[in-house]
Amino acid sequence: MNRLESVLGLDLPLLQAGMGGIAGPELCAAVSRAGAGGTLALYKEPPERVRELVRSVAASTSRPFGVNVIPEVTGPAACRAQLRAALDQLPGHGFVTSFGLPDAGTALDIVRSGHVLVIQVGTPHDADVALRLGAGVLVLQGTEAGGHLLGELPTARLLRETRARHPDAVLAVAGGVATGTDLAQVQGQGADGAMAGTLFIPTVESAAHPYYKQRVVDASADDTVVTTRFAIGWPARPHRVLHNALTQNAPRHPATFIATTRAGDRRLPVPRYSAAVPVVETVGRIEQMAMYCGQSCSRVAGQHPATVVVEEIRRTYEAAGQSHDRSTEGEPWKTRSNR
Ligand SMILES: Cc1cc2nc3c(=O)[nH]c(=O)nc-3n(C[C@H](O)[C@H](O)[C@H](O)COP(=O)(O)O)c2cc1C
Repeated sequence: MNRLESVLGLDLPLLQAGMGGIAGPELCAAVSRAGAGGTLALYKEPPERVRELVRSVAASTSRPFGVNVIPEVTGPAACRAQLRAALDQLPGHGFVTSFGLPDAGTALDIVRSGHVLVIQVGTPHDADVALRLGAGVLVLQGTEAGGHLLGELPTARLLRETRARHPDAVLAVAGGVATGTDLAQVQGQGADGAMAGTLFIPTVESAAHPYYKQRVVDASADDTVVTTRFAIGWPARPHRVLHNALTQNAPRHPATFIATTRAGDRRLPVPRYSAAVPVVETVGRIEQMAMYCGQSCSRVAGQHPATVVVEEIRRTYEAAGQSHDRSTEGEPWKTRSNR
């Protein structure tokens, strides 16, 4: 068992990213049952619904799972309200992942609850701060990642610099991991494991719109771009998406409504350039919406149940581990005992 597995109670050193609108109770529970780090996205969900969602996951898996918050989207007060509702229902072995740094009060609430605090960062400086806030696990997000980007360094460099500053920290990487070989490779570079988002978009249990799932399956890394265009609802942070008519350098179209989508029990209009992803209940011009996608899409094939995806990673990871062990004797973080 490696350090990430032992801190979070997993039997594979892989976390599924909380993905707003996509990673609901079905995906989170399926990944958790498969032994990886299933994570429920709380995104902008109100506390009453958070309670219901966490309860529903807890009823479907006896293994550890996490909840994900985005303090910069909700603001600190709403984030703490979401967490109060979630922590009430989260089993003892659960964890909380934060996209970006939470404020000190929020971090303290989580640490005091006894759940492991996992913070995703994009710079070595934020990694330092996250550890001071009490994070038990850091997720280092490189620019290969799909979705909003926390920094400007590719995964390998961010990992190298952070590992040099924090030799004993539990570090996972996010961005570029979609196979067991990728996972073994980042471990060879000094990571304790990884977080993957794009890999899980096309799974059967993901709530992504079927058109979006197929676009991810068909895409290769060159079909993704970093843009700032889908800023309505989540401004001022670049994001990696599948390119479409709106990401080209063409003049901007008006931000009129192009679709409707679900938020809890309500239907909401979606303006062009909204940060909202197309989900299964979205109706309208799906191809113009924000389809977040990482460069690892090149290695994502087919729309499978999440268990099949996790099992396939486990199989290729173990196979890569065996060949890796033979070729890396003497390098401490590459040995089997560290896995
Ligand atoms: C569709 C999509 C939605 C995402 N939404 C969230 C989110 O709600 N919260 C979060 O912490 N990270 C979110 N992320 C970013 C992930 O945490 C992670 O950095 C990323 O998925 C890693 O890169 P990969 O997608 O190439 O595996 C999202 C990523 C994607 C692809």
